[in-house]
Parts: sequence; C-alpha cells; structure tokens
Amino acid sequence: MVPQWIIEKKRDGNALTPEELQYFIEGYTNGDIPDYQMAAMAMAIYFQGMSLAETATLTELMMNSGDLVDTSAITLPKVDKHSTGGVGDKVSLLLAPLMACCGTAVPMISGRGLGITGGTLDKLESIPGFRVDLSEREFVAVLQECGCAMIGQTGQLAPADKKLYALRDVTGTVPSIPLITASIMSKKLAEGIDGLVMDVKWGKGAFMKTYEDAQELARTIVHVGTRMGKGMAALITDMNQPLGLSAGNSVEVIESMEALQGRGAPDLMEVTLELCAQMLLLMKQADSREAALAQLQQQIDSGAAFARFKQMVQLQGGDPAALDDYARLPTASMQEPFPAPESGVVQEVSAEAVGRAVVVLGGGRAKTDDRVDHGVGITNLCKVGAAVEKDQPLLTLHANSEDRLAEAKRLLADAVVIGDAPVKPDPLIKEIIKPEQDK
Ligand code: URA
Repeated sequence: MVPQWIIEKKRDGNALTPEELQYFIEGYTNGDIPDYQMAAMAMAIYFQGMSLAETATLTELMMNSGDLVDTSAITLPKVDKHSTGGVGDKVSLLLAPLMACCGTAVPMISGRGLGITGGTLDKLESIPGFRVDLSEREFVAVLQECGCAMIGQTGQLAPADKKLYALRDVTGTVPSIPLITASIMSKKLAEGIDGLVMDVKWGKGAFMKTYEDAQELARTIVHVGTRMGKGMAALITDMNQPLGLSAGNSVEVIESMEALQGRGAPDLMEVTLELCAQMLLLMKQADSREAALAQLQQQIDSGAAFARFKQMVQLQGGDPAALDDYARLPTASMQEPFPAPESGVVQEVSAEAVGRAVVVLGGGRAKTDDRVDHGVGITNLCKVGAAVEKDQPLLTLHANSEDRLAEAKRLLADAVVIGDAPVKPDPLIKEIIKPEQDK
C-alpha cells in the first residue's frame, strides 16, 4: 500500500477499507508513517468524515495499538462513565464511589484538564499524597478492594491515540466526530469494561458548541460501543453555564465531598444521579430508574459513598483526613468576591469565561505540560435564574497572584449577564441516547 494513495482516497470522499485503516494506524504507531502524512489524513477525515463502520474499525485499531487492562479477576459488572469535558464538571468524584457502593466496579482511567475544561486527575492530585500513576497490578488491586480506582492513561494504553491526539491538537483537526469517537472509545474500551455511559456536553463551555453536533457525537459513540459488545447509553447535558458552584481543583474536591455528604448543588446532583441510574440499569443492578435513584440516595444518606471515596483515597496513597479537614488541601492566598454590577435576574453565566478565568488563575492548562496551581479557582458561582442585588457577590475568586487575579476579573467582566426578565433555564439533561435509537 502507498500512504499518499490512501490519503487521496479519503480526500476525495471515499470510504477506507479495514486493511487500509490498519496499514495507516499500525504504520503511524510504529513510526513508518510520518507525522506529515498522518496530519494530512486527519485533515482529510476532518473534511470528509467517516462512515460508522469506518469509525468503529478505526476505534478498534487504536484500542488494539497497545495494552488492554486485564480486569478479568474482577467478577463484579465493570462499568465506567466518560464526559466530553466541561467547566466545573466534578461528576466522576461522586459517581465512582456511588457506583462502587451499588455493586459495580468502576475502573476509571481519566484525563488532565486541557484548555478550559478541567480534568479529574488534576482535581484528585490536589489531595495530598494521592497517586494517579498506579501500575496495572495496583490499579486492579484497589478496584478489587474498594470497587473503584482512578488513574491516568499509561504509556501502553492506546498509544496510537496518544500520538494522534497530540498531532490533532496542533493541526486543527480536534473537532472531528469520527476522530473524537475513536480517541475517546479506544481508551475507554481498553479499560476492560462491560458498559459505558457517556456524558456528551454541549454549549459554550463544551467541545461541541451546538446541540446537533453533540447529538451526532453521542449517536456515533453509542453505535461504536454497541458494535463492540458494550452496554451503552449517552446523556446530552448542558454546558452553557458551569456545573455546580465551583471550578478549579481543590475547590471542586471540596464541593464533591460536600455533595457526597448530601449537600450537593441541584444541577451537579441531577447529572450525577442520572448518569449513575443509567449505569445501574445498563448493568442490570436496578429494575427501574426510580429504584436506581432510591438506591443511590441511600448510599449518600447513609454516609457509605463518602466513606468509599475516602477508602479509595487511602488505597491510592492520599490523605483521607484532608476530606474532613479542608485546611489540609491546597488553598489560595487571596479570596475576592466579584460583585454584581446591577440588580436583576441572572440570564447567563458563561462557562467559557469561567473556564478561561480558572486557566488564567493557574488552575488549568494552556499546554499539556503546563503545571497547575491546585489551590486557585472560583467558588460560590451564581446560577442562571437567580435574583441578585447590586454589589451582591456573583462568585468568589481564589488567587495566588495579584496580576492573575486582575486578568481573571477582566475575563469575567461580561461572564454574568443580568437582566430584568425572569428566566427558566434550559433542561440540564435534554436527551438520553440508547442503542435502539441509534441509526
Ligand atoms: N477527548 C479525547 O480523549 N479525545 C478527543 O479527541 C476529544 C476529547
């Protein structure tokens, strides 16, 4: 096969055969196909798209480019959740212990924050001592002991994606539905799970800016996962305003611990509990959505979910006492409220502006190798529909530098829109996509 002929075939809008895709992905992973040819191929895919069959083949090839986690020692149903990323999205920290308390195992391989979207690993690393770099053996041992474990992608897991994602990042080829699907699913399916629930976010603070794109991505992912024999469902959730009341790292850990003890913000709990309920239904751990929700609430009310999270933290080398005594978590030296410029009703809270402000404060990353400041962030976020008085705080900034604080305030100047009209926020969960709806 000749690489440029395969690129030309895709450039001209033709479907690639499994053999051609295999030649390309294997060649790229082992270095036979150089970056410039893969970049041209990614751009051809970006413009021409891929059929569902091509996307499934690409996913499988990328998954098989490296090791698969051997979770066969775990007899419980293995299920995970993946979010396409958002601002204030701390759902994983609640969901993993909740699901572990409900008789499933959650082998979660998470990512770091990039751009305006936060990352579970950065949040977890704000807990003193917490290790996200467990070996596969340690990962499986933690899972066996407490039913959930959370680590980062190892070098051996889906290496084709690791290489291709870095290339897409610098060649303008990230927002392609087949490439995003293959990237996400190659990593998730390598975890050795039986089922996966996706949280596909749409809106100003999400990858997918339009609802239609989010729908297409959700359908594609559900199709590919189902084709590979996994139980699948996808929620499409709003990311126009941040999720919950905080954005950052240690501030989100604190919000999550409060939520695990029954004091969660309504939007955060709605998304978390619906994702968990769908996971329980997929894994046949509940007979109905109502029964699933009751089971989950009981794990919060009894303190079991909070205790399970602490157990996981301890097993992964972290200090569980920091989850009761927040002073042990990283904090910022300055806390400053951001006052409302006028009285009225909050019409909009831009997740994008809040995400950018967190990055500027040092809590997020502009480049993959940037270091994050775990103590900075934003708390007490106002929500769409709230009535506010002039000078009432709309949010609180946590900063470690005057310059960064000033820049974050500039970015937030227009983030909260206040008007006179009462607002009914859009539904947070607009749709749940399941395989039978999948085309
Ligand atoms: N997350 C991923 O892992 N890959 C993508 O392509 C986009 C989001």
